[in-house]
Amino acid sequence: MEKKRKRKSPEANCSNLPLLRVKREEQIFTRSLCFNVPINPSPFFTLFFLPVHRSHRLPTMSVSAVGSFWLSPSPGKLPRPRMVVRSNAVSTPMAADMRAGLAVDGGSDLKMILSYVDTFPTGNEKGLFYALDLGGTNFRVLRVQLGGKDERVIATEFEQVTIPQELMFGTSEELFDFIACGLANFAKKEGGKFHLPSGRKREIGFTFSFPVKQTSIDSGILMKWTKGFAVSGTAGRDVVACLNEAMERQGLDMQVSALVNDTVGTLAGARYWDDDVMVAVILGTGTNACYVERTDVIPKLQGQMSSSGRTIISTEWGAFSNGLPLTEFDRDMDAASINPGEQIFEKTISGMYLGEIVRRVLLKMAEAGALFGKYVPEKLSTPFILRTPDLCAMQQDNSDHLDAVGAILYDVTGVKSDLSVRKMVVEVCDTIVKRGGRLAGAGIVGILQKMEEDSKGLIFGKRTVVAMDGGLYENYPQYRRYLKEAVTELLGLEMSKNVVIEHSKDGSGIGAALLAASNSKY
Ligand code: BGC
Repeated sequence: MEKKRKRKSPEANCSNLPLLRVKREEQIFTRSLCFNVPINPSPFFTLFFLPVHRSHRLPTMSVSAVGSFWLSPSPGKLPRPRMVVRSNAVSTPMAADMRAGLAVDGGSDLKMILSYVDTFPTGNEKGLFYALDLGGTNFRVLRVQLGGKDERVIATEFEQVTIPQELMFGTSEELFDFIACGLANFAKKEGGKFHLPSGRKREIGFTFSFPVKQTSIDSGILMKWTKGFAVSGTAGRDVVACLNEAMERQGLDMQVSALVNDTVGTLAGARYWDDDVMVAVILGTGTNACYVERTDVIPKLQGQMSSSGRTIISTEWGAFSNGLPLTEFDRDMDAASINPGEQIFEKTISGMYLGEIVRRVLLKMAEAGALFGKYVPEKLSTPFILRTPDLCAMQQDNSDHLDAVGAILYDVTGVKSDLSVRKMVVEVCDTIVKRGGRLAGAGIVGILQKMEEDSKGLIFGKRTVVAMDGGLYENYPQYRRYLKEAVTELLGLEMSKNVVIEHSKDGSGIGAALLAASNSKY
């Protein structure tokens, strides 16, 4: 029986064309406008858009370096969004970077973090456990009463609080005090089905969803903030110590028994119900993937094998960049971000950034192609004014006149739009979302391929589950579809039949609590 206290839920179409046609287009644009696009694009990741009809002057713009997405001029019409992404642009280098990161710390962009989770919850866990989840715009507290093999999860309760913007730029003390205070308030309301045996402290699974160099199952040093956080004084410190100090200031006597990344919590939570779960992926504000690795193929462990012979590795794939085709929009957004040069894969596929990329494309179309008429709407120059949930809402609009699209565009630009503009905007959204979903799918294939190479048949030769979570994956149907399509195309129909991509809703909270239970101090 599950009781939920408060739940704030975080919150289209083109076809693959034959390779030949795209190649011909590339040559034309390369010759006439110095467009520089990838050579030998794979048919897998080739997509292409038809124009929307309006008369406009031909824009002149160039895409530097290898462009996976660009605006092509179309005489007398609006520039058309186009995209080419090579399939092997992600999966092959992803697998190679995984190996390099397993060999030595700093061996590649992928940090390949050792989680210290070597065994999974068995189902025998019993008692009351808490989870604390800090990872994006919200932080969540949860308690779960576990009943062992027969009763499993007897009850859960959680609360979610939005993190005030100013705390994302404040001091470490302020942020951790806010968290400890939320936890203390929540703990006070414990009752009903939740019982703590006498003589025991309340134990917490702390999901901290940022790159942390774990030093044990219950300690780890923050390497850097991501997802727009720029809190001073935490990087380089043990985040469990930061939480303990804040709990002490609150007079709260609780004990962190497991520190986990959200992907690791998701994997543990999903595996509690299904032994075939081998990979977990978060696609929300940020992104990451973890998987079950054999300890004998982790050179940086230097022979320290776990008793199970396996461990969970958090790849921190958001930092992947090796050969990733980027456009001027990606580069400009990265340059303007608070962490330039970092989290490049995250910046092309995750929820925090998709809306901003679309805004930048629309702004360029407004400047170069008069998308919104003679004047460029001033509001459109505001960074992050267009959010990924807006893209999603626009792509779900099935009305004849795209009224919801019109309303959102009016909100964001202050300008009334006609149907052709609305259609064009939806196409741009679809292009960027398609790129994101397909790149994420290619990343998953990269991980599966790496695992298969080392374990011959143990991944593709049987059912293998990839547990997915995060607001972007959960709430954006087109994104989900593009991701799955890419996985199927890259693996081929036969092999992909064994790969199950499954939504594991809110698995990370329960997973963290389960890991606190299996690493209990009692
Ligand atoms: C963080 C990861 C996290 C992911 C999803 C990324 O920005 O670096 O640690 O797992 O977001 O929340």
